Amino acid sequence: MIDVFNNFYKGKRVLVTGHTGFKGSWLSIWLHELGAEIVGVALDPFTERDNFVLSGIGKKMVADIRADIRDGQKMKEIFALYQPEIVFHLAAQPLVRLSYEQPVETYETNVMGTINIMEAIRAIKSVKVGVMVTTDKCYDNNEQLEGYVETDPFGGYDPYSSSKGACEIAIQSWRHSFFNPADYGNRHTVSLASVRAGNVIGGGDWAKDRLIPDCIRALEATKVIDIRSPKAIRPWEHVLEPLSGYMFLAQKMWDDPTSYCEGWNFGPEAESVLTVWEVATAIIENFGFGELKDVSNSNALHEAMLLMLNINKAKTRLGWKPKLNAKECIVLTSDWYKRYKTENVYNLCVEEINKFIE
Ligand SMILES: NC(=O)c1ccc[n+]([C@@H]2O[C@H](COP(=O)([O-])OP(=O)(O)OC[C@H]3O[C@@H](n4cnc5c(N)ncnc54)[C@H](O)[C@@H]3O)[C@@H](O)[C@H]2O)c1
Repeated sequence: MIDVFNNFYKGKRVLVTGHTGFKGSWLSIWLHELGAEIVGVALDPFTERDNFVLSGIGKKMVADIRADIRDGQKMKEIFALYQPEIVFHLAAQPLVRLSYEQPVETYETNVMGTINIMEAIRAIKSVKVGVMVTTDKCYDNNEQLEGYVETDPFGGYDPYSSSKGACEIAIQSWRHSFFNPADYGNRHTVSLASVRAGNVIGGGDWAKDRLIPDCIRALEATKVIDIRSPKAIRPWEHVLEPLSGYMFLAQKMWDDPTSYCEGWNFGPEAESVLTVWEVATAIIENFGFGELKDVSNSNALHEAMLLMLNINKAKTRLGWKPKLNAKECIVLTSDWYKRYKTENVYNLCVEEINKFIE
């Protein structure tokens, strides 16, 4: 694999929370290919056909640990034992609709879980870089046409979005109080950032009530695809886009710990901002069959209609920009779902990472 990070991750001890999940499994595979020593901390995967299970990435890690991030003491023990140098914190309850059913658990996992990870970082000396993953939904969404910039106020209507807004406030507070760049090298040696991606798509996601998994489940069962919010507009991006941003940012933070410890948006270009209906249509075009049905109803749970991210900061200060347009993201995503049943999934993911890099 071409190492676009110039050997940076080779031999580095990297702890990934949420490694059994959709984004975490892709991140772990990429890091493994770059020679990182990976320690994963998460709950069990959800299904037998999750990317984590099919790829077998857990067996290639230094440690594949099942532990609950709500258990702060346990997190401190794991961090003390494995002494990571870089932490990517992805573990979360990431679903808007589930957060209406489980608001307390969502807050416990997302807010207290994040605080427990920051406290575990604080308790040891090995961690130099912490990249805390929140979401585009952390911003106070007033359905504005312009993309949100990093300095916009945090908020969130539903428990998931607001829990991530609360995470952002906690991360900001820990950075001011314990990992302040002004005190770097004196009171601490940690560079802490938060990262906000858009609507991430890619192979191996089977989450409930997410558009792509809903489409694939229906296609595999030759059922009509029910579309709840056909007109909703989201910043769609392939999973490798924000992951490349997180990894690139971590490298920058390592090299220059006090210049990049902030919030960063890693969304798509404006033309990738499509409606739910447009994305589902592209999926069935790629599969060559399938039918959509508009099942929107005015009594449905509130979900934002319009959400966009401004990515000028990452472009100008990091030199990062998305590589794929919306069509390419959908083709790469469909490809995984067409091939996962018959091919070696680890190799399939590596092939997709290579295609992405090229
Ligand atoms: N998928 C998206 O579109 C998207 C967009 C923006 C941000 N995000 C964020 O990216 C991160 C990863 O999302 P994903 O889509 O991969 O989610 P996912 O549901 O596929 O994975 C979540 C991971 O978190 C772990 N986890 C959940 N609760 C836990 C707990 N109490 N203790 C330990 N581990 C726990 C799970 O085991 C799993 O490994 C989340 O923080 C999410 O909010 C996702």
